[in-house]
Amino acid sequence: VNILELNILVIGKNGQVASAFCDISKKYPNYNFYFTSRNELDLSKPDIVFNKLNELDFSADIIINTAAYTAVDKAEEEKEAANNINNLAVAEIAKFCAKNNILLVHYSTDYIFDGSGNEGFLEDNTANLNPLNYYGKTKLDGENAIKNSGCNYLIIRTSWIYSHIGNNFVKTILKSMQEREVLQIVDDQIGSPTYAPDIAEATIKLIERLAPNNIKEIFNIVPAEQISWYEFALKIQKSALEKGYNLTTKEIKPIASKEYKTPAKRPKNSRLSNKKLNDLGIELPDIKTSLNKIFDLL
Ligand SMILES: NC(=O)c1ccc[n+]([C@@H]2O[C@H](COP(=O)([O-])OP(=O)(O)OC[C@H]3O[C@@H](n4cnc5c(N)ncnc54)[C@H](OP(=O)(O)O)[C@@H]3O)[C@@H](O)[C@H]2O)c1
Repeated sequence: VNILELNILVIGKNGQVASAFCDISKKYPNYNFYFTSRNELDLSKPDIVFNKLNELDFSADIIINTAAYTAVDKAEEEKEAANNINNLAVAEIAKFCAKNNILLVHYSTDYIFDGSGNEGFLEDNTANLNPLNYYGKTKLDGENAIKNSGCNYLIIRTSWIYSHIGNNFVKTILKSMQEREVLQIVDDQIGSPTYAPDIAEATIKLIERLAPNNIKEIFNIVPAEQISWYEFALKIQKSALEKGYNLTTKEIKPIASKEYKTPAKRPKNSRLSNKKLNDLGIELPDIKTSLNKIFDLL
């Protein structure tokens, strides 16, 4: 039962997580959602973010920042844009939240860690905070900017997001499976593919559990299964065949990261522990269930 009446400003409109909030907003009549696209609030210009937020004709109790520079490889080149959007603009949003007593809900990533070991990283792990790529660095700097601002925050770390919109592994692989006979997929990076609508639902549950108290917390939101990209590709293939897709691909071969060079280095261990989330009684559906949902929408 929703007992809170809340005004929720979602920064981002057309992204995977932002769209998921758009889709589920009708389910929560007590929450008054307002979405800003980059036309209304451009995070690549951090200097004007505070004033733009002030000028909005919407008095937010909560700001959910789904917007980010998410092109991990391109970030190695476009460093200024990535840093503006993922770090400096986030600092301004946090400053605005601190001044106006707004809870800031912000998304971060497994790429803030160094990728060592084979356990899921816990929320309070600081020993392994050492990003391997520039995108990860800007996301970690963004987290720290929030912590230093004094605002109430809920930093949500997640990984390998997919949805029926935007660019993601599921859509890319499905297309390749309809065009190519053999696919080679990396088998030595392990993490949890996470469905954007599951992230949005779990975020609302977290807010309902924790707000309106003062919150300064980090939570991982990921499903329980931890698999490689190769294993994820096999699951996608299975779901696609079950849904009646006619696939060209006859063989999927596992390869090592070193055989698939990318401009940005990726962590081998992308696992995030979901214990803290589960201890609150919140669990994400398994990957198969979420893949079934995405195939119904594609
Ligand atoms: N994608 C992943 O695999 C992944 C993994 C771990 C964590 N995360 C984090 O999860 C969050 C959501 O990711 P996502 O996959 O939903 O992202 P996405 O689909 O790539 O969408 C990016 C969003 O950022 C907005 N945006 C980009 N540049 C902007 C700018 N200059 N000004 C204002 N808005 C701008 C876009 O705006 P428009 O709506 O106007 O297009 C869009 O809504 C991000 O914080 C990301 O770092 C993502």
